[in-house]
Amino acid sequence: AAAVVHEAENAVVSRGVVESNHAGYTGTGFVNYDNAQGSHVQWTVDAATAGRATLTLRYANGTSASRPMDITVGGVLVADDRAFPPTGSWSSWTTVSITTDVKAGANTVRATATTSAGGPNVDHLSVGATGPVASTPA
Ligand code: GCU
Repeated sequence: AAAVVHEAENAVVSRGVVESNHAGYTGTGFVNYDNAQGSHVQWTVDAATAGRATLTLRYANGTSASRPMDITVGGVLVADDRAFPPTGSWSSWTTVSITTDVKAGANTVRATATTSAGGPNVDHLSVGATGPVASTPA
């Protein structure tokens, strides 16, 4: 099955704003994390059955330093201080992927900034077809 894209601008945002002033995003915009530790975006991803899933975050980071984030699934840390390296400009977007277990039904996926710089600009979460994961577009 094709990956399902969940736009950040449709997710739950804590300490961040939806913007569209840097080109190249999918959907209608992206989330600009506040420059604060703990700022986060949370998606709900439905899986038909339990199994492995590839979670891909599309982001831009126009600074010269990584903007690390913790990734949790169902409140469980699955990627600790994952690096989101510089992409060259705020309109250059790339992806970071992790493969992890999901349960059947609704899974909350949260990406939380771990430094005072906040997260990168996040465009979307794409849930890939590693396992028997089916979900509905946001
Ligand atoms: C700039 C940029 C924002 C970005 C911010 C940051 O202001 O325009 O899109 O979020 O830097 O450093 O986080």
